[in-house]
Amino acid sequence: MPSEDTTGKMIRDSMAVQEGISVPPEWETIVSLLRDRGSGVVYVLGAADRGKTTFCRWLVARLASLKITGFLDCDIGQSTLGPPATVGLALFRDTSGEPLATYFRFVGAVTPSGHMVQELVGALRLKEKAREGGASFLVIDSPGWVLEPAAQEFHVRMIDLLQPDLVVGFERGPELEGILVNFRRHPRMTLLECNCPPKVVERKRDWRRLYRHQRFLEYFSGAVPQARFLSGLGIHGRMPESFREESWRDLLIALCDPEMMVVTLGLVDRLDLVTGTISFRAPPHDPHRVATVHVGSLQVDLSHPPGRDKNGTRPLSSRQSTLPGEDDPVPPARVSPSSGARGDRERSFPE
Ligand SMILES: Nc1ncnc2c1ncn2[C@@H]1O[C@H](COP(=O)(O)OP(=O)(O)OP(=O)(O)O)[C@@H](O)[C@H]1O
Ligand SMILES: [Mg+2]
Repeated sequence: MPSEDTTGKMIRDSMAVQEGISVPPEWETIVSLLRDRGSGVVYVLGAADRGKTTFCRWLVARLASLKITGFLDCDIGQSTLGPPATVGLALFRDTSGEPLATYFRFVGAVTPSGHMVQELVGALRLKEKAREGGASFLVIDSPGWVLEPAAQEFHVRMIDLLQPDLVVGFERGPELEGILVNFRRHPRMTLLECNCPPKVVERKRDWRRLYRHQRFLEYFSGAVPQARFLSGLGIHGRMPESFREESWRDLLIALCDPEMMVVTLGLVDRLDLVTGTISFRAPPHDPHRVATVHVGSLQVDLSHPPGRDKNGTRPLSSRQSTLPGEDDPVPPARVSPSSGARGDRERSFPE
């Protein structure tokens, strides 16, 4: 990822020590179990607002004080490590929150629905990176999209692919059974079901959209206009159906290295077919590392409030939410955009 400062700061802020959280006794049991094993991959599963990320951050800090520990953030909507629409890996060797190394893969959307292949491949590649980086422990945070049949299939495939040693489910009632039942007889997997901690705070849809918007604002805070000839580069992903300017403007893209790790994300200004040039805004990065351009499904307009078009109404067909039922009409908290960005409208091509 580019601008180590921005990405590094996003990670340090996200991994700061959490004051005042409640730590149920079963969390300590999980640490003991992993300490005794000496290594292990943990997949954390649960619906929205079940305390998954809080637990992951706590667990990563505890394990990192023992051995190198990776945090694999697969929640592309409510990302913890980097910008939304990416799967991220950070390796830690102590509790400072300062990563040893970070890697990102681009999914191109803020929900796995319609982008499962990109997410599955990205997660697996980053798991391999964690192993190459010497991580003894790997903690995987997953999207809160768990209730629909497609969501259940997604998690079943993630677990099947990533082969965790431990699956920790956070739930209210038996809401994860449709996923967990598939692994109850797995010979090498332990399933642990935890009650959702009572202190968990529920976040409404507008809060989630603003959170995403702020993450994009922060990521692109140091972005500068740039242009690249496409000749010699791979280009793939969700191409818009038309070459009209409005189909490409603000489209989220990733410039990736030969291993398809993200070098930088960008927001398209213009695609010029005559000169074969793509113009975009992106944080400063090393252009020599770029081998491919991955086109995402999301247009991110940093200059308009989230979910509103220029007239202040919500675009319906183009809206993309992380979770079904994010529709609660709660007034958004006030945001103070960093570095001169004005607001955000987020839309995508219908899945
Ligand atoms: N054990 C805990 N003690 C105190 N507060 C908690 C605890 N777990 C979660 N919370 C609070 O509840 C809120 C939601 O928690 P968290 O972000 O961990 O949930 P999540 O399941 O990851 O949600 P999402 O679906 O958005 O990813 C946060 O504000 C967090 O601070
Ligand atoms: Mg979370």
